[in-house]
Amino acid sequence: MRRPMVAGNWKMHGTRASVAELINGLAQQQISADVDVAVFPSTLHVLQVVSGLAGSDFAVGAQDCAIDPQQGALTGEVAASQLHDAHCSLVLVGHSERRSVLGETDQVVTRKFAAAQSSGLTPVLCVGETLAQREAGQTLEVVAAQLSAVIDVLGVEVFAQAVIAYEPVWAIGTGLTASPEQAQDVHAAIRAQLAAKSPELAGQVRILYGGSVKAASAAELFGMPDIDGGLVGGASLNADEFGAICRAAGS
Ligand code: 13P
Repeated sequence: MRRPMVAGNWKMHGTRASVAELINGLAQQQISADVDVAVFPSTLHVLQVVSGLAGSDFAVGAQDCAIDPQQGALTGEVAASQLHDAHCSLVLVGHSERRSVLGETDQVVTRKFAAAQSSGLTPVLCVGETLAQREAGQTLEVVAAQLSAVIDVLGVEVFAQAVIAYEPVWAIGTGLTASPEQAQDVHAAIRAQLAAKSPELAGQVRILYGGSVKAASAAELFGMPDIDGGLVGGASLNADEFGAICRAAGS
């Protein structure tokens, strides 16, 4: 049985004051012990969130890491080893906003994935198709290629210590959620791709859905057999809404 997981990606939001308020709101949420919950603040706020949520069951992750795991001369970047030192336990890699706006390639994403694991962080590999790709019937092909890019270089075994997030680009921040069936189809294909190399591992890896998840849509999505939780953007900035999404994963 896979443990459900709900992750909140705060993206480039927050001030010290609003982050403090969000931490307070999160600390008041009643969340089932059967659900893993993590929040991903901006790197600037990681230390504030780690100390604000110390002693709680919330894990803290970063939204990105450098391609090299160790400290060094790389202006503006943050090494996975530094994130680990700051008590992050997870890191997003390959979010579509970084792929599309910052031009991150599959090669870069794979290096970040490896850097994360070599520093003891769990990478959350984000994959997903654009609207044009979906309309052209290329969804499964695009997602498979994004997953293969990592498997071909690092091997399938690395997914024993990783999470996958399927985030259709057209559903991110648009209010358009993939239907539970649309999401399930892609999640099942991802799992089948892993199963072709390692059935045991495929049964264990958690695949989260992301894209306009709200408390109102969460239970139906999380009820699908291959959807193990969510990667939540906008709704994770509201502690009560995020708490409700976490509770939907535990029910
Ligand atoms: P929204 O929930 O705001 O659509 O964002 C999803 C996302 O990109 C999470 O990483």
